[in-house]
Amino acid sequence: MTDQLTGKIALVTGAGVRLGRAFALGLAEAGADILVHYNRSQAPAEETAELVRNLGRRAVSVGADLSDLEQTQGLLPLANEKLGPVSILINSAAIFEAVTATETTPAVWQRHQDINLRAPVLLTLALAASLAGSPGAVVNLLDWRALRPGPDHFAYTIAKAGLAAATQSLARALAPNIRVNGLALGAILPPADDGETPPSKIIEQVPLGRWGQVDEAVEAMLFLVAGPGYLTGEIMLLDGGRHLV
Ligand SMILES: NC(=O)c1ccc[n+]([C@@H]2O[C@H](COP(=O)([O-])OP(=O)(O)OC[C@H]3O[C@@H](n4cnc5c(N)ncnc54)[C@H](OP(=O)(O)O)[C@@H]3O)[C@@H](O)[C@H]2O)c1
Repeated sequence: MTDQLTGKIALVTGAGVRLGRAFALGLAEAGADILVHYNRSQAPAEETAELVRNLGRRAVSVGADLSDLEQTQGLLPLANEKLGPVSILINSAAIFEAVTATETTPAVWQRHQDINLRAPVLLTLALAASLAGSPGAVVNLLDWRALRPGPDHFAYTIAKAGLAAATQSLARALAPNIRVNGLALGAILPPADDGETPPSKIIEQVPLGRWGQVDEAVEAMLFLVAGPGYLTGEIMLLDGGRHLV
């Protein structure tokens, strides 16, 4: 995919750390300039931007708390101001709290809805308004759980299930100029703060018998952004078969 995205500008949410950073670097390797969004991870986001610049692309970090409506609505206009018109949006920022359905409080519910569902949808609509008919591509980061909801991580799962539905709905609403696809991941990186399930136990449920690699997630994201232009409303599962178990 080298240079396939040259001249394009991508906004990657949650790009200071973990998968978001890898998505930013993958898009930069494919030629795109990058808006590195962060909330708390300002220093890591600046480091991501530096890594992108080392690849010869432009990069700027932009902060926004996506639980805050005003900051969410301000992010795309701010991104456009910094580097020029964004045409690729990767909605990767999310929270993932291990709270079951029966333990879910209104506050837990609300923050998952705001960060994991409202923000990606509003950012996509803002992108569509700003592109005004020019081509664009959106990838929403989903989870196999969104397509096979269980009782664990309840607010997270329901918000991601909403985002899966929004992916399909927006693919129709924003066609033909903007393609909207989803990438439903399985076990790629263990949650930073989750001691509840040992990584070896997770793998017992994965038919391919291993964790996915970060590079594989990047490759799938790039396929949705820069692969066949006829692809929209697709939700690609990259989970080693976890959703089948
Ligand atoms: N890791 C996996 O194996 C896996 C599996 C299934 C699905 N996914 C999905 O893939 C995506 C990336 O996964 P990940 O594990 O790399 O993510 P992660 O570590 O769970 O996500 C953290 C990211 O979200 C951002 N974020 C959290 N709260 C925010 C807020 N209020 N406002 C703005 N940004 C906020 C963080 O930014 P700051 O650090 O700057 O605050 C950070 O960059 C997520 O959507 C996740 O649900 C991942």
